Amino acid sequence: VTKLATPVVSVPAASGALGRLLVIGGGGHAWVVTEAARAQGWRVLGYFDDDESTSLGDKTPRLGPISGAAAATAPAAERGGPGDEDLPWAVIALGSLDLRARLIQVLPGLYAVVRHPSAIVSPSARIGAGTFIGATAVVQGRTQVGDHTIINTGAIVEHDCVIGINVHIAPGAKVGGGVRIGRDTLVGIGSSIRPGVKIGSGCTIGVGAAVVSDVPDNARAIGVPARATHSWSDSDDS
Ligand SMILES: CC(C)(COP(=O)(O)OP(=O)(O)OC[C@H]1O[C@@H](n2cnc3c(N)ncnc32)[C@H](O)[C@@H]1OP(=O)(O)O)[C@@H](O)C(=O)NCCC(=O)NCCS
Repeated sequence: VTKLATPVVSVPAASGALGRLLVIGGGGHAWVVTEAARAQGWRVLGYFDDDESTSLGDKTPRLGPISGAAAATAPAAERGGPGDEDLPWAVIALGSLDLRARLIQVLPGLYAVVRHPSAIVSPSARIGAGTFIGATAVVQGRTQVGDHTIINTGAIVEHDCVIGINVHIAPGAKVGGGVRIGRDTLVGIGSSIRPGVKIGSGCTIGVGAAVVSDVPDNARAIGVPARATHSWSDSDDS
């Protein structure tokens, strides 16, 4: 994907502009995002993925490789803001945080907040553009969620948290009140984060971990209680 000058456009979650949606990614996570988007009321036009063998079902055509998404989403950013029903919106629906981080840098777009109708989001929470909030997930009061973050199926993010850009709170993870999480961090399936803890950027919290103390940048924390160890690779986050 060629780096483009146009910046990512951030829009508030409460824009309510449910229009046409382009999905970037065609794997399992994209399937989940696409179904949630339809349930929410988006008209999904299709998806971009480099792998021709991917499928999001008959209703969702593959529109081409991910490089094609730049051309498809750029006009939206240039032509106007939220509320114009003619604008196509976009959501990055790839599981890999590394790949997501790279695309966020290069893909212009008017990014949607895709939120399954069964998710509960406090009116006082602030949700960044491009964020996905899965079925039965909960985001409590005064919590801030950065752009392009995933609050996956059944995850709970309690009050007064600050969650960075491109974070993945995996299914069933529980994040206590006042927790801070840096960008590009994976909080693994079913893990629990003690209230008030700070987790750095680029971290991986393992499946089922109980994080009871701060975790430095680029660390991996696993176990109960979790111990922080070496840097992580992106091999296991999708
Ligand atoms: C922590 C993690 C990144 C390690 O992955 P990995 O480097 O491939 O590690 P391996 O599977 O090779 O396991 C290495 C060792 O760590 C142990 N281990 C792996 N994950 C663990 C976890 N979550 N908690 C405790 N121990 C763990 C293994 O049992 C193994 O121990 P051994 O050497 O004594 O046999 C991965 O297991 C994990 O938890 N990823 C999060 C995935 C996730 O939630 N994705 C979200 C998808 S929606």
